[in-house]
Amino acid sequence: MQRVFSGIQPSGIPTLGNYLGALRNWVKLQDDHECIWCVVDLHAITVWQEPEALRRQSLEMTAVLLACGVDPKRHILFLQSAVRAHAQLAWMFNCVARLGWLNRMTQFKDKAGKDRENASSGLYVYPNLMAADIHAYHATRVPVGDDQRQHLELANDIAQKFNHDYGVEFFPAIEPLIMGPAARVMSLRDGTKKMSKSDPSDQSRINLNDDSDTIALKVRRAKTDPLPLPADVSELADRPEARNLVGIFAALAETDHAAVLKDYGGQGFGTFKTALADLLVERLSPIAAETRRLLDDEAALLQVLASGAERAEAIANPIVREAERLVGFVNVR
Ligand code: TYM
Repeated sequence: MQRVFSGIQPSGIPTLGNYLGALRNWVKLQDDHECIWCVVDLHAITVWQEPEALRRQSLEMTAVLLACGVDPKRHILFLQSAVRAHAQLAWMFNCVARLGWLNRMTQFKDKAGKDRENASSGLYVYPNLMAADIHAYHATRVPVGDDQRQHLELANDIAQKFNHDYGVEFFPAIEPLIMGPAARVMSLRDGTKKMSKSDPSDQSRINLNDDSDTIALKVRRAKTDPLPLPADVSELADRPEARNLVGIFAALAETDHAAVLKDYGGQGFGTFKTALADLLVERLSPIAAETRRLLDDEAALLQVLASGAERAEAIANPIVREAERLVGFVNVR
């Protein structure tokens, strides 16, 4: 069975983008893979997080993942900071990855913005830590949204250079799994911008804990163009907002863009938006209710995370010890 690894930052309430681009696919993979799911709090602090908010959000994220269907008994769910192997391997990777490689990372450019001098050095080496997350488990498949594609290419480059430098075949190649018609969900206010937990406008996204009225209102207010929906997928190419909403509908209905246009092509956005809001409420409200229920029992969440950390360490520690031996560190214990 192939080993899968993926992570999500506890930097806010997860959005519909996280759900359709990643979480929903994580749950599907659990049937025929050995899965390791990680709440990546080390990554979250690459930009400022209020300590109290980070604590709360880490538990909220754990509850959301469980509510989405992550199974902590058959698979592993844990907090990144609880397993030291991630930071240890990341340091070795900081010394393998080249500055030129990191300089090409578009996410760093987006997140650092214009004030690059003031970005944390952690934000710059963020992709090295991400590579360490995956390679510490010798995972071979990584389900993510489209925005993580470049980071996964870098993770492969790092593994290849490590193997080459130390003359071993130690870290395996990884295969990104970028799945479904909503691998890049866009902002509801701007079809050219990614939907994000950290966008200042709450109207730009659907949060997994939004109530039915909020969902309906956000969908009704979502930016669209004045034309009716087209009959053919090719006509969505230069209509980013329409393409986004059709993609969201397709993903929720487990179908594709063409099938949605077969039903709604030629109609105005009014009817379509009502159907989309209904579908969103149907899919998301059970997750929100289950999240609230799970958050009532913090001790149970901590228990899941403690057991996950222990099982994650059992896999990662020997792999990272071996990487240290290959690099030439003396084992004194
Ligand atoms: P994060 O927390 O930004 O997002 C978690 C997952 O959600 C996907 N995603 C989206 N998919 C579609 N449309 C969107 N608008 C959208 N926004 C987010 C992301 O692609 C991701 O799969 N660096 C990662 C976390 C990470 C990781 C890892 C992932 C750390 N270590 C190792 C895989 C393997 C991140 O920031 O995710």
